[in-house]
Amino acid sequence: MKQKRIVLGVTGGVAAYKAAELTRLLVKAGWDVHVVMTEAGSRFVLPVTFQALSGNPVYTDQWDARPDNNMAHINLTRGAAAVLVAPATADLIAKVAHGLCDDLLTTLIAARDCPLLLAPAMNRQMWDNAPNQRNVAQLKADGVAILGPGSGEQACGEVGDGRMLEPEDILMRLEAALRPKPLAGKRVLLTAGPTFERIDAVRGITNSSSGKMGFAVARAAWEAGAEVVIVAGETPLATPPDCRRIDVQSAQQMLAAVELEVPHADIFISVAAVADYYVLNQSEHKIKKDAHILTLELAPNPDILASVACAPKPPFCVGFAAESENLLEYADAKRRRKQLPLLAANLVQQAMGADDNEVILLDDAGTHRLPRGPKLDVARQLVAHLAALYTHTRKPA
Ligand code: PMT
Repeated sequence: MKQKRIVLGVTGGVAAYKAAELTRLLVKAGWDVHVVMTEAGSRFVLPVTFQALSGNPVYTDQWDARPDNNMAHINLTRGAAAVLVAPATADLIAKVAHGLCDDLLTTLIAARDCPLLLAPAMNRQMWDNAPNQRNVAQLKADGVAILGPGSGEQACGEVGDGRMLEPEDILMRLEAALRPKPLAGKRVLLTAGPTFERIDAVRGITNSSSGKMGFAVARAAWEAGAEVVIVAGETPLATPPDCRRIDVQSAQQMLAAVELEVPHADIFISVAAVADYYVLNQSEHKIKKDAHILTLELAPNPDILASVACAPKPPFCVGFAAESENLLEYADAKRRRKQLPLLAANLVQQAMGADDNEVILLDDAGTHRLPRGPKLDVARQLVAHLAALYTHTRKPA
């Protein structure tokens, strides 16, 4: 991945230890990380920890006369995609809200030419303290992104708002904040994962869809500015930030959830691997093993995507086609039969359960092959394509 430069500010709070993990995650995600610590920050975690994790010198003092600190308050942010402060204390927030510049971090923030993101971390009373709330409101009005804080148990033993978000969450929000927002104000409904068709109290029929592709599309749509609802079959995957999740088991439950949500959706993306049949002769109790042959009667499930796409006023519908052969031919037939403006075709043996995917997009203009890569990369390209198509199709005449 091409390296992107970021300045990570670390101020004096217990959560500074989590900034070390954040540095590791940023580096893993391809960021060139330059850490600047306040004096208080360096009392919680030694600068050498960040130097080892980032592979770059750590800056702690605006009076440091070493050559690479020359004009650090200007040079560090030139070419940087963002300044991120995690943890951001009430003190740092107050100084930035009032434009104070009394150390290297606050001075470079004032002199920056890139977005600023703060991940607050403090005791719940400090967070709720009226001056702090005024400062946060001022920063938001100034266009500063405030990430969190989360809520829960705090280092002091109290419980409430003020916990720093987890490093994975901060990374996702940082990357989202820097992406274009072609779906701002749009509501995206999507299905993801497998369905499970019950046979008896303990058994059922399912498939090996992991939900990874659907959740990646949900995250990409959220990054693009959409409000996202995921109707998810059984999957242990974590819900992407700010997305609303409805857990279901069977295809019929998935259809019921989709029918409730679809009137509010601008775009419907059907990524779930929905079972085509359900068991007609389900048993309420565990079926006992005996010498007889057991016959399951299977009846067709509703086609969720087709029922949404063929409604009188459908949202913009995007389907997926998982085929094991004749990918383009079968996918094209599916797109026409279900009257879809856009369909993503993938080979089941490459896509299902895997971390990577390779997708061909089919629309009225033809086919567009997306390069094989991690599902999130594929999802971002799919969302960019669908956003362009959506804007073009829904443009007023
Ligand atoms: O979850 P992963 O492990 O990441 O795997 C991703 C995936 C392979 C499941 C995904 O990329 C994918 O291809 N999803 C669609 C799988 C599928 O069921 O394809 P299909 O060709 O059988 O169905 C065509 C379309 O109709 C799909 O959009 C499907 O969601 C929808 N459908 C199908 C049957 C049904 N009863 N209701 C539906 O809505």
